Order: sequence, then C-alpha cells, then structure tokens
Amino acid sequence: METSLVLTGIGELCTNDPRHDGLLGVVRDAALVVQGGTVAWTGPAHEAPAADAAYDVGGRAVVPGFVDSHSHLMFAGDRAEEFAARMTGTSYSAGGIRTTVAATRAATDEQLAANLARLVDEMRRQGTTTVEVKSGYGLTVHDEARCLAIASQATAETTFLGAHVVPPELAHDPAAYVDLVTGPMLEACAPHARWVDVFCERGAFDVDQARTVLRAGEAAGLQGRMHANQLGPGPGVQLACELALTAVDHCTYLSDADVDALAASGTTATLLPGVEFSTRSPYPDARRLLDAGCHVALASDCNPGSCYTSSVPLCVALSVREMGMSPAEALFAATKGGARALARDDVGHLAVGAAADLVVLEAPSYLHLAYRPGVPLVRETFLRGRALSR
Ligand code: NIG
Ligand code: FE
Repeated sequence: METSLVLTGIGELCTNDPRHDGLLGVVRDAALVVQGGTVAWTGPAHEAPAADAAYDVGGRAVVPGFVDSHSHLMFAGDRAEEFAARMTGTSYSAGGIRTTVAATRAATDEQLAANLARLVDEMRRQGTTTVEVKSGYGLTVHDEARCLAIASQATAETTFLGAHVVPPELAHDPAAYVDLVTGPMLEACAPHARWVDVFCERGAFDVDQARTVLRAGEAAGLQGRMHANQLGPGPGVQLACELALTAVDHCTYLSDADVDALAASGTTATLLPGVEFSTRSPYPDARRLLDAGCHVALASDCNPGSCYTSSVPLCVALSVREMGMSPAEALFAATKGGARALARDDVGHLAVGAAADLVVLEAPSYLHLAYRPGVPLVRETFLRGRALSR
C-alpha cells in the first residue's frame, strides 16, 4: 500500500465536486487525503481520517491544478518585434505564423525539446498540471512528425495541427497542401497525436478544407477540435457543432445561431483571452455563452505570435475583468472546463478518485486569482500528489 498524505489547514478547498458547496464544491477549514497519486478523501479537517504523513498548508486556499487545453509550445524563436509593431498599430494576421515556421524548421530536436521543457516548467510554476500541446509550426511531414514525437514525451494531450496555415512553398496550391496534410503528414503524425485540429479562418483554411482535414483525422483515429471564429465571424463554430467535436476554440465572433448551436451541442467553447489581450482585440463574450447554457473552458493559447503568455491565472483575471465571468465561473472553466475540453474526467477536479493535481495558493481564497492580477500566487503545485520542486 502506498503511503498516504493528508493536506490539512486548508482555509478554503475548491474541489469542483458536486458533493460539496456551490459550483466550485468549496469546503472551508478543510483537509484532503492523497494516496497513490489520487484523491482519497476531502472534507472538514476535524473529520479527516488518519494518514501516514501530514502537511499543514497554514490556512491557504487549495484549488485543482489548471487544465490548459490549448497551447502551441512546439516552436523555436519569438516574435517580439511583431508584438511591438502591433502595439503601435499593425493588426494581427494569420500570416505571422510563417515566421515561426521558418525558425522551427531550422531548430534541432534538442532545441525544440528544451524550449518545450522550459515552457512546461513555466506553466507548472503557475499552477498548470495538464497541458495540451499542438504542432503546427513545422508544416512538412518530417517537421510536424518530429514536433509531435517530442511533445508526446511531455504530455498525453498532443494535437496534430498540420492545417495551421498553408506553408510558403505551397502558397500557390493550397489544395495540394490539404492533400499532404490528410495523406502522408497525417500518417506520420497520427501515432504521436491524440487530437486533430484545423485553423478555420480567413487567411488559413476554409470550412470545406476544415471538414476534409477533420474527417481524415478522425478516420485515422484522432479526435477533432478546432480553431474557429477568432479573427471574424465565420462558419467554423457551426461545423464544430455539426461534427460534435469535443471543443471549438477562440469563439470570439459569434452570431446568435452560433451560440444556439453551441448550447444545443456537447461541444465546449474554449475562450483564450490572452490572445485578445496580446492582439488588442475585442474579448469573447463569456457571459452570453454561459447564460445560453454552453460549456466554457479557459486556456492560455500560449504561442509566440498571438499570445506569448503561459499564465492561466492571467486568463482567469482577464475573463473576470473583461468577459463577464464570475471568479467562480472562471476558475471552473480553467479546471473542470479544460478537462471537459480534453474529454478527461480524471483531472480538473478533486473528487475522490481524481488525480491529486492541485495548487496551494499564497492566498486565503481562490478569489485572489482575479483580485490580484499579475501576482505570483501559486505557492506550490502538486502533480499526482507530489509537490514539484521550485
Ligand atoms: O491560436 N489561431 C491560430 N494559431 C495561433 C496563433 C499562431 C501564431 O500567430 O503563431 C492562435 O492564436
Ligand atoms: Fe491556438
């Protein structure tokens, strides 16, 4: 029997477990028992069962680890100059992706793996315990496959995004690129990926190309997700709902029909407010989606172009300040919502049997995540019941 650990002295424990109070399943003056990497018990500290070891968190808040269901960490280089130009008036376009493609193709496997490890570590220190990682800056069979092979060493949540943009060498023949993506590239990438994604947007892929890519990915055993309605209105969200995809991400420009389709589907709308912050664009309307009964997730979209933040706490603060979410809705979306967007029921909550992935905040309440933006409130991150060294 593995040794058990009781975390005690938890001023406020957010479990997302419906057996406890409210949306976040809050227990005050709580304890949580971990055994074998999973949660074995939660409740009031005075009722906690005995355990082999105890750790007193001194009245701080404990929340589930963040589930960042959308990131692009397989890249080399950065685009700080593009960001600076944007801040003086140049607008964001999908074409900037090609700058990163050139840098990524030129990087060695070791350089790509080291950059990924650096960013995953940065995320862990900010409380992220599950991260999805996409390809999409290689755009050749070889470069997409090696990016996914490297990513799969770091996470089970890998996504083939060969259909990110048409690379410069095939700019004259997008149909040939879609054939490559759905043929040899998919074949080389599928063994390293769980998901298939497509950027359905002006300047990237249209809705027919998106459908072709998603169908081919699903036929190869991958599960579909999408980038849609990021830079303007379009048919992407409707396609995601029609195909019953697990998640459709961005959802910045939605018609009433899009919101109705999301509400009627099981598809999670993933909002990525770091993008709107970093591209100085209008934020998605989370309130409208929640009021319509849609499933909402929050994620970082960490990438070198539209949003180079790895901070889910920043996204929580932005969604509360700018998108009409309550602090509880934002934390739920960044944990249980992210897990739903990855079809995972073992993470994003701290009910008995879930992974003991959790965060001890340097704060008495989860409210501080939105109340104290930009402050490093993550005191300790536990992954499968073990505290990560800082
Ligand atoms: O999610 N939307 C497409 N892809 C990324 C941006 C990629 C880039 O600019 O490098 C995004 O915003
Ligand atoms: Fe993205």
